[in-house]
Amino acid sequence: MIIGVPKEVKDQEWRVGIVPSGVKALVDAGHKVLVQAQAGEGSSMPDAEYKEAGAEIVGSAEVVWKRADMIVKVKEPVQQEIPHFRPGLVLFTYLHLAPIPDLTDALLKEKVAGIAYETVTDHQRGLPLLTPMSEVAGRMSVQVGAAYLEKEKGGRGVLLGGVPGVPPAKVVIIGGGVVGTNAAKIAAGMGADVTIIDVNLNRLRELDDIFGGVVRTQASNSYSIARATAEADLVIGGVLIPGASAPKLVTRQMVSRMKKGSVIVDVAIDQGGCIETAKPTTHSNPAYTVDGVVHYCVTNMPGAVPHTSTLALTNATFPYVMKLASVGAKSAIKSDEGIRQGVNTYDGHVTYKAVAESQKRPSVNVADLI
Ligand SMILES: NC(=O)c1ccc[n+]([C@@H]2O[C@H](COP(=O)([O-])OP(=O)(O)OC[C@H]3O[C@@H](n4cnc5c(N)ncnc54)[C@H](O)[C@@H]3O)[C@@H](O)[C@H]2O)c1
Repeated sequence: MIIGVPKEVKDQEWRVGIVPSGVKALVDAGHKVLVQAQAGEGSSMPDAEYKEAGAEIVGSAEVVWKRADMIVKVKEPVQQEIPHFRPGLVLFTYLHLAPIPDLTDALLKEKVAGIAYETVTDHQRGLPLLTPMSEVAGRMSVQVGAAYLEKEKGGRGVLLGGVPGVPPAKVVIIGGGVVGTNAAKIAAGMGADVTIIDVNLNRLRELDDIFGGVVRTQASNSYSIARATAEADLVIGGVLIPGASAPKLVTRQMVSRMKKGSVIVDVAIDQGGCIETAKPTTHSNPAYTVDGVVHYCVTNMPGAVPHTSTLALTNATFPYVMKLASVGAKSAIKSDEGIRQGVNTYDGHVTYKAVAESQKRPSVNVADLI
C-alpha cells in the first residue's frame, strides 16, 4: 500500500500522523510511505529522520494526496484539503464530523472511506485513539486555566493552589472520563479544591476510589451544575457522548451567574462544546470573554505540545495503520470490529449513527456495504 503523510495545515497544528519509527516498520513490511516535506518539523522530527527510516519525501501536499492509497493525518481536513478527495481514497484521521456537515458532504460526494480516530473502539469498547489526546488535553486544561486566572490574562487573579491562610481556587470538572480524570489529577496536584461532575454513578464511584477523597464527586443534573459553576473559579468541560454533539450542560444563564474573571476551558469544544457560550477558537487567538467570564475553547489543544502529543497519538494509532496497510482497508473493516466502528463515511454513505443523527441524515451499516 502507498501511505501518504501530509503536513497538517490547520492553524498552529504541529503534530504529524506517522513518526519515523512507524515509517520504518511500514517500509520493512513492504509498503511505501510518502511524507510531505517538513511534515514532522513542528514535532521536532526532521525530514532527514524520515528519509533515513525509508520514507520518500515529497514536495507538495497535492502529490502526497494524489499518489497515496491511504492518507494518515491528525486533524479533520480543512477547506483547502477538500479538493484532494477522490473516490477510493482511505482517510485515517480525527474527523469529528458531527458539527461539520460541509466536510461530511465532501466525504460523501467523493465516496471517501473516512475512518475517524475518535470512534475506533477496543475490546472493552473504549476509545483507544481518543484516550492519548484526552490525556494531554485534560492535563493541559488545568495548566491553561491556571494561566488565564492570572490578572493580566483577564482572570480574577487567583492562584490555583492558594497559600497558607488563603483558600485554593475551586475547580469544577464536568465529565469524569479521560479528560476529567487527568484534569483532576493535575488540579488536585496543584492544591486546588476539585469537584468532578458526571452522569455515570459507577464512574463517580471509581473516581472516589482513585482519588481517595481528595476530589469531590457530584451527580450531574442542571441543579448541581448551576450551583457548582456559580461558585467555581475554573470550569473544565470534558463531557462526551461518542460521535454526537456535546450536550449544552452549562447554559448562557449559568455563565452569567459565574464570578467575574472566572475561567471556562471547554475541552469538549471539538464536539461542539458543553457550555452554551463556547465557540471554537485557535491557538493564535485562544480566548474571549462573555459576561466577564474568560472562555478558552481551542479545538486542538494537544497541538500546543506537539512533541509529546505526536508520540502519544502515534503510539496508539500505529497498530491500526499497520493493520489497514497489511490487509487492506476493506478486509480490515470487515474483520476488525474496532476499525469498523471507526468508519464514519463509506462509499457515499454516513456509516456512524451518532454523526447521522446529529446532522439529521440517514445512516447505513458499513457491514452492508462491504
Ligand atoms: N479540545 C481538544 O483539543 C480535545 C482534545 C482531546 C479530547 N477532546 C474532547 O474532550 C471530550 C471528552 O473526552 P474524554 O476522552 O474525556 O471522553 P470520555 O468518554 O472518557 O469521558 C466523557 C465523560 O462524560 C460523561 N458524561 C456524559 N454525559 C454527561 C452529562 N450529562 N453530565 C456529566 N457527565 C457526562 C461520561 O459519563 C464520561 O465519563 C470529547 O469531546 C473529546 O473529543 C478535546
